[in-house]
Amino acid sequence: MQKLSRPARRAALVIHVSASVGWLGLTTGLLVLGITAAGTGSTATAEAAYRSMKIFGDWLVVPVSLLALLSGLVLSLGTPWGLARHRWVYSKFWITLATTVASIVALRSHIDHAAAAITAGQPVGSTATDLVIAPSVATVTYLFITAISILKPWGLTRRGRRARDTARSSSVGESGRRTKTASDSLAA
Ligand code: HEM
Repeated sequence: MQKLSRPARRAALVIHVSASVGWLGLTTGLLVLGITAAGTGSTATAEAAYRSMKIFGDWLVVPVSLLALLSGLVLSLGTPWGLARHRWVYSKFWITLATTVASIVALRSHIDHAAAAITAGQPVGSTATDLVIAPSVATVTYLFITAISILKPWGLTRRGRRARDTARSSSVGESGRRTKTASDSLAA
């Protein structure tokens, strides 16, 4: 992919951080609703909580998770960070892919089941526990991803080291100068 211009990269970064950290907030909200519904003695409160979860599930989970994933892909492929060059980026990609699929497929179907059962006056059963566990795991996961996005730990992957060595040997040979890294170009 062609590298992004500076304004395009900045715009993509704003979209990416808004979507992905918004996803963390959304999941925390779902967790609070799930705990409220599972813990309350009031059917009216549980119904309100599951119906609210369904509104978030129907309107926000798919667009927000896909936007976080796709904007992350654009930033990876369109900047010197690359998708498989730095361990923190590659880890984020696989974790986000897994949580996107889990959110779109499993989380939403649990929410739909709980909302339908409570509206029909039937017991929600073990789905109530699932709707506490799933958002708990997701919240911890997105906090972890946010931390590694900011700290950028673990260095280069094997592929990243190979690409760096190839670039270094050709550019040092030509100009005697050091090759630009992803972090150098961030400061540009
Ligand atoms: C829940 C999922 C995600 C969260 C919470 C998240 C969070 C963030 C945050 C807070 C930053 C800003 C870091 C900084 O500027 O210091 C960032 C940057 C970045 N993210 Fe993500 N991210 C997520 C998913 C992804 C995915 C799936 C990818 C790759 C496929 C990705 C690739 C990147 C890249 C390459 C940057 C650096 C962009 C640049 O500085 O130009 N992210 N992310």
